[in-house]
Amino acid sequence: MRKNTKTISYLRGAIMLLVFISCNNNKRTIEPFDLQISEGFTNPLGFYDDAPTFSWKIPVGVQSQSAYSIVVASSPELLPNKADLWKSGKVETDQTLFVKYGGEKLLSKQKGYWQIKFWDNEGNESEWSETAFFELGLLNNSDWQAEWISLPDENAVEIDEIGKKVHRVQYLRKKIEVRDDIESARLYITAKGLFQAHINGKQVGNDVLSPGWTSYQKRIETLTYDVSTLLGKGENTLGVELAEGWYAGRFIFRGYAAQSPQLLAQLEVTYTNGEQETFTSNNSWKGTVNGPIQYSSLYDGESYDANLEIPGWSTSGFDDSSWFAVVEEPISDEVKLTPKRHNPVITKITLPTLAITEPAKGNFVFDLGQNMAGVAQINIPVKEGQKVTIRFAEMLQPNGEIYTKNYRSAVSTDFYLPEKDGVIEWYPKFTFHGFRYVELSGFDESVTPEKSWVSGLVQYSDFDKSGTFSSSHAKLNQLQNNIEWGLRGNFLDIPTDCPQRDERAGWTGDAQVFIPTSLFIADAHSFWASWMQSIRDDQRENGSIPIVVPDIDGKRVSSGWGDVATIIPWETYFRTGDEKILKDSYQTMLGWINYYRSVSENHIVDMFTYGDWLQPYSEHPTDERKGETDEKLVNTAYYARSVDLSLQTAKVLGLTDDVAMLQSWLSEIKTAFQNRFFNADGSVSQGKPTQTAYLMAIGFNLLSPEMEEQAIPHLLAEIEKADYHLRTGFLGTPLLAPVLEKIGRPDLMFEMLFKETYPSWFYSINQGATTMWERWNSYTHQDGFNKGGMNSFNHYAYGAIGQWMYERIAGIKPLKPGYKEIQIAPLTGGPLTSAEATYNTPYGKVSSAWKIENGVFELKTTVPPNTTAKIVIPANTDESLILDGIDFAEDAQVKLIKKAKNSFELEVQPGNYVFESKL
Ligand code: BGC
Repeated sequence: MRKNTKTISYLRGAIMLLVFISCNNNKRTIEPFDLQISEGFTNPLGFYDDAPTFSWKIPVGVQSQSAYSIVVASSPELLPNKADLWKSGKVETDQTLFVKYGGEKLLSKQKGYWQIKFWDNEGNESEWSETAFFELGLLNNSDWQAEWISLPDENAVEIDEIGKKVHRVQYLRKKIEVRDDIESARLYITAKGLFQAHINGKQVGNDVLSPGWTSYQKRIETLTYDVSTLLGKGENTLGVELAEGWYAGRFIFRGYAAQSPQLLAQLEVTYTNGEQETFTSNNSWKGTVNGPIQYSSLYDGESYDANLEIPGWSTSGFDDSSWFAVVEEPISDEVKLTPKRHNPVITKITLPTLAITEPAKGNFVFDLGQNMAGVAQINIPVKEGQKVTIRFAEMLQPNGEIYTKNYRSAVSTDFYLPEKDGVIEWYPKFTFHGFRYVELSGFDESVTPEKSWVSGLVQYSDFDKSGTFSSSHAKLNQLQNNIEWGLRGNFLDIPTDCPQRDERAGWTGDAQVFIPTSLFIADAHSFWASWMQSIRDDQRENGSIPIVVPDIDGKRVSSGWGDVATIIPWETYFRTGDEKILKDSYQTMLGWINYYRSVSENHIVDMFTYGDWLQPYSEHPTDERKGETDEKLVNTAYYARSVDLSLQTAKVLGLTDDVAMLQSWLSEIKTAFQNRFFNADGSVSQGKPTQTAYLMAIGFNLLSPEMEEQAIPHLLAEIEKADYHLRTGFLGTPLLAPVLEKIGRPDLMFEMLFKETYPSWFYSINQGATTMWERWNSYTHQDGFNKGGMNSFNHYAYGAIGQWMYERIAGIKPLKPGYKEIQIAPLTGGPLTSAEATYNTPYGKVSSAWKIENGVFELKTTVPPNTTAKIVIPANTDESLILDGIDFAEDAQVKLIKKAKNSFELEVQPGNYVFESKL
């Protein structure tokens, strides 16, 4: 076997060498690929950044890069030799990620075409890559000639039974005259609220819930669409639906919003003769609320009346003389308009109905088999004037009817009123629901329901999957699946806590524990970078960070939650290699740790915290949800953590003075922490000696080495007392794996992870979970639904264990930022006989697949080009190590760096390898 593989790799090398030599003097025919700009954008339109960075991959089979050359031009014809925007020249470096654009600052609407070539480690020069492209959006408020428009409140707002403003969905339109043949056209558009644009009766784009959710008082994101083919010479009509969305809808903490939705649109046309013309939203537009979407709310659902459909409303033949004039308002300088800096939400997956039940006569429930977020598409027979009601649920009651109590005040119901008998196909536009079950009533009851009547449109921010994980254990695979669905259900433009009840907010604590796992599952670099921009926008004057971002709360702050300000930049940087997020966020980090300082005395922090949220068996005196770990201990531990991450950041940014200052600051906090919260024998001195108290102290490196040694037996005693179950909440749970590994007891982590009894990951799976639940026992077969007021069945926080599954069970972990150096070190344990993962690193795909058969451990692994890997093979090292079928001997590709009792440690160059060892 080895011979084969080795022969193949020798052969491959030889062939490539021949290619270089025979093809035009030392030129490779293989070129760099996957050209990306800034946070992973491929050929973006409406790009946000006037100072982008460039990244690319070098092909498999090449060991590393020794130099690159980048050319950027204003037109493709100028490439590569006459590039007019920037020529990097030959730069000797192995850097392939986030190379800064070195030309003149880019301007709004500017186009750039770029290519790159590289030289490999032997000096061979590649061909130029294919041409990549970017086009900027409108970067400045002054680029907008449009006005904010909307129907006046008296024409668009109804006051409901409890005296609150209900915004009817507005249909806005404008006929324009395009005077010549079109070369290209761009629609720049956004809303305070949600919009959907149409041109000449055709929908623009496939995104939903745009422009998404930012801190609207500070920054509103704008979208750019290429509408060149939707327009033609002569009369054209722009139509836009405008709904309340996050901006003007009812929302947790803030209740009903005082403000009404508004639209901003600017259509820029370039004619074939080079002339340009701009059409904008202004008071010449007209509007109505007497359209089919009568009402739409994110929490409460959408109401559609087919009798009010307005055929042709966004086409030129339509007579709008009965429509109202809109009112306009100028753009203010206070709210920054910026191009959207990550992909919008789209329908990513369509789930079919798996089963239909009829728990009570005429009550039909469609089961999609998977808890999800998005909307239901219905395709059903209806009767004229008979209203169809569509209700949703994540779970069923014991009698088979839908369970909606956990939605709390979110009505989450859609209505459809047909204007005639027949079959309708419909889904709502400006709402979303969190659900697995759909209850239908009001359809044509003479027809027996069929599965094809209902499907689930799963909607989340449009990113690619970046990793895969599987193992020999079905429940562990189900857990991984549930974690992924937790992400799909909650990455809806911003990271939310849950997608179903009257909450769905950007809870910062949940996000900070989940980010490392999320980056294994999804290519979420720009998603996090974008939300981090909102965190910076929402930081308060005193440095505090809101509990939710965008900040709809306005006042509260919690330790463990606000630390999102240091954790998101650091994790994003470390896992992608992009320093920009550190640079952009460093002042925010300092602001946050200074806030901590302002509420501390002798480095012990006294502030509000949600604490170790939802710790099982908590006997907290006033709020059992907070867990029992001493609040000041939690505060001070996170204070140290955030100072530590600020210190790491200062090091990366080369801020030597800050490094020294932060280093001494951190060591003072550590001393204060140990003195205040730990007894001389290593036990916790304040509050309950919880697992989390020890986990934070050890996991955040807050104790002296001697004290840590003393504390370990206390942690182990707590775990033993819990019969090897976790007793941790949102903050403590993610620390179990790293700490148990740090103290040399990963076996305990396997034991906890594979537990079937409460509280544990598999316990929820045993109760039927298809996503991550807010509580381990949100529902149990024995006792039914948890009585707590918060009971979400789609809450990703406990999915943070996914990181350990990738990093240690499968064994793929970055050692240097962006996976420039990778650790491949699988951890065997529990009942597992095999596990495997792949991950698309910024350099290419890494994989690790191991199995144990008859006492032999086998690892198949791929190390991507331009990286190196440290590979650790579990083994009885008295026996020999086999590589590609024969006894291992060092060569240029694989070096032995350490032979320990239970493992071989190797340093490995890019390529594919099969290792075998005896256990
Ligand atoms: C949310 C959380 C959040 C918490 C704050 C809840 O209502 O759903 O996940 O972190 O409040 O403690």
